[in-house]
Amino acid sequence: MADHTRVDDATTCARPSEEPPSATRPLSPPLVLSSVYQVEDLAQVDSIYNGDSAGFIYARDSHPNAAQLAAKLALLEGAEAALVCGSGMAAESALFLASLDAGDHIALSEGLYGRTVGLVGRELARFGIECSYFDATDAESLRAALRPKTRLVFVETISNPLMRVADIPGLAGIAHEAGVLLAVDHTFAPLLCRPIDLGADFVLHSATKLIGGHSDVTLGIVAGRKVKIDRLANLASTFGLTGNAFDSWLALRGLSTLSLRVGRTSTTALEIANRLSQNSSVMKVNYPGLASHPDHAIAARLFPEGYGAMMSFDVGGREQADRFIRRLEHIPYAPSLGDVSTTLSHPTTTSHRFLSPDQWVQQGITLGLIRLSIGLEDVEDLWRDLEQGLA
Ligand SMILES: Cc1ncc(COP(=O)(O)O)c(C=O)c1O
Repeated sequence: MADHTRVDDATTCARPSEEPPSATRPLSPPLVLSSVYQVEDLAQVDSIYNGDSAGFIYARDSHPNAAQLAAKLALLEGAEAALVCGSGMAAESALFLASLDAGDHIALSEGLYGRTVGLVGRELARFGIECSYFDATDAESLRAALRPKTRLVFVETISNPLMRVADIPGLAGIAHEAGVLLAVDHTFAPLLCRPIDLGADFVLHSATKLIGGHSDVTLGIVAGRKVKIDRLANLASTFGLTGNAFDSWLALRGLSTLSLRVGRTSTTALEIANRLSQNSSVMKVNYPGLASHPDHAIAARLFPEGYGAMMSFDVGGREQADRFIRRLEHIPYAPSLGDVSTTLSHPTTTSHRFLSPDQWVQQGITLGLIRLSIGLEDVEDLWRDLEQGLA
């Protein structure tokens, strides 16, 4: 008799595998790479799309790894909800595209990340969206930047490369008085404070940096009120801005040590900043934890437990910066930040390369400026390398 349960090998190969039965659950979150999910019937598909039951259908809309990462980030930020996007820039794009219509206006703080300035000033400008600038350290300066069509105010908690600290509570008060929402790019300052508790409406991260923590993720996150994040999520799927499963899985793993990394790097950074300040080859150190930093008072108010991993210092000129970089034995010139190992960047040849020399002068960015992202090394080992560079 023919065995009717037996199917052709081609069929066996092609059919989806069954999940193995298990009464236990994995402790570590499974990486779910499926781009699509099996739906029982039409009632279930309706119920999931209507939000009446939980479930995933198509990974560009949502998937378990992004949902887990978003939930943890929302918890950390004190937000109702969060959305995982394909990069920090994708998160910004989702926020701007959802918040601004043609003819609207956005107020930006001075000295934002260059691509953010390009996104608004070049790309959104093509759709009739206008912008103006204010000084994030002086909340009153925001008043002059607001217009009747202003829909959003955008700042970075700590700016690059001079580590200026935004007066988030002051800015939130003025923005809300005018009926405008405040968004804070918190990339340089995760866990140092909670922008939403300080009055922000949205908080964004390039999870590529400190959240990922190991330079192997490209991802962005935006958190805020659920109704707003639901709208952003829909838009992000339409524009194809959502994040993938593997990077979400890696970023969730990175988050598990974030608190330890922030604590340790804040302690090391303050010590290194103090030592650099006393070194005769260093003209100036920019670290919000130093009493000499122009925003130390606000930083001390906003960051009760430490000032973060990021600092910059001036070694005098381009030649000195080049010599310093070449003399270092261990700290790599790698223009990103937030890694477990200390890395350095040189703003005028990387992040701020496309500004004119006049703009550098205007922003106080010098050719000898070196930016450090402090990692987890022992402080003495790190200092030995830095001293060798400065010798
Ligand atoms: C402050 C800040 N915001 C946003 C971004 C953009 O993030 P991503 O590179 O993940 O798109 C960066 C990247 O360096 C950044 O430094």
